[in-house]
Amino acid sequence: MKIALIGYGKMGHAIESIAKERGHTIVSVVDIDNPEAFDSSQFLSADAAIEFSQPQSAYNNYLKCFERNVPVVAGTTGWLDRWNEIKSLCDKGNHTFFYASNYSIGVNIFFAVNKYLSKMMNHFPSYDVGMEEIHHIHKLDSPSGTGITLAEQILGNIERKKQWKESVEGSKEDLLIRSKREGEVPGFHEVIYESDVDTIRIQHNAKSRKGFALGAVLAAEFVKGKKGFFSMNDMLDF
Ligand SMILES: NC(=O)c1ccc[n+]([C@@H]2O[C@H](COP(=O)([O-])OP(=O)(O)OC[C@H]3O[C@@H](n4cnc5c(N)ncnc54)[C@H](O)[C@@H]3O)[C@@H](O)[C@H]2O)c1
Repeated sequence: MKIALIGYGKMGHAIESIAKERGHTIVSVVDIDNPEAFDSSQFLSADAAIEFSQPQSAYNNYLKCFERNVPVVAGTTGWLDRWNEIKSLCDKGNHTFFYASNYSIGVNIFFAVNKYLSKMMNHFPSYDVGMEEIHHIHKLDSPSGTGITLAEQILGNIERKKQWKESVEGSKEDLLIRSKREGEVPGFHEVIYESDVDTIRIQHNAKSRKGFALGAVLAAEFVKGKKGFFSMNDMLDF
């Protein structure tokens, strides 16, 4: 496949090496200093563009891909206030857009376990539920996109929790998320159920960025030749 990269930072580099390992060609690399590359023949020839840039630039980059009819695999987090706009532009223009708050296959297994466990724990009000996420100090958004996905899954299943709150204290109805920024941690997420008599914890700990990069390349392979708005559920079919 011909792949364009938008954003050539930590993730862009990790994706480049996995894509090459899987036999793909990186035809174009766009970063903040060379937006003119969007109009190059190489970019226009791409079967998919994989976008991992920054929260404030992601939306415009998606529009540029739509305008050029290049399918997008979107990895940047922190832009979800514009979700409805992107969904509607994708649908109206018959474009291709794939988004995952976390491309790691392991995290998506963790999401499935989180859904299952929270459904079960709805019937056990003696347990309070909380979350912790830890990322490297360069991360711009907080809580993490993965943390928000986990929180929304829990809120969808546990009736005694009404909203998530990024804090160490709140009311009984708040699902508290403790976000920490430490060193170079690639991504740690934990969901904790606590009663007077015991604790149940489920956690995912990424050892490197490789798992996210592989998932993004698999998503690019998945969207080839498809139109529509896709997520990991479409690709993994749990
Ligand atoms: N969905 C996932 O699985 C997943 C996994 C890891 C990281 N992320 C997210 O991906 C994003 C990037 O992460 P990173 O660790 O590579 O960050 P990074 O800071 O290392 O790299 C970001 C790159 O984007 C570039 N950039 C800035 N503005 C741009 C613009 N207008 N156009 C093109 N490029 C631009 C920067 O110059 C930089 O090279 C973050 O939002 C992060 O939270 C998502």
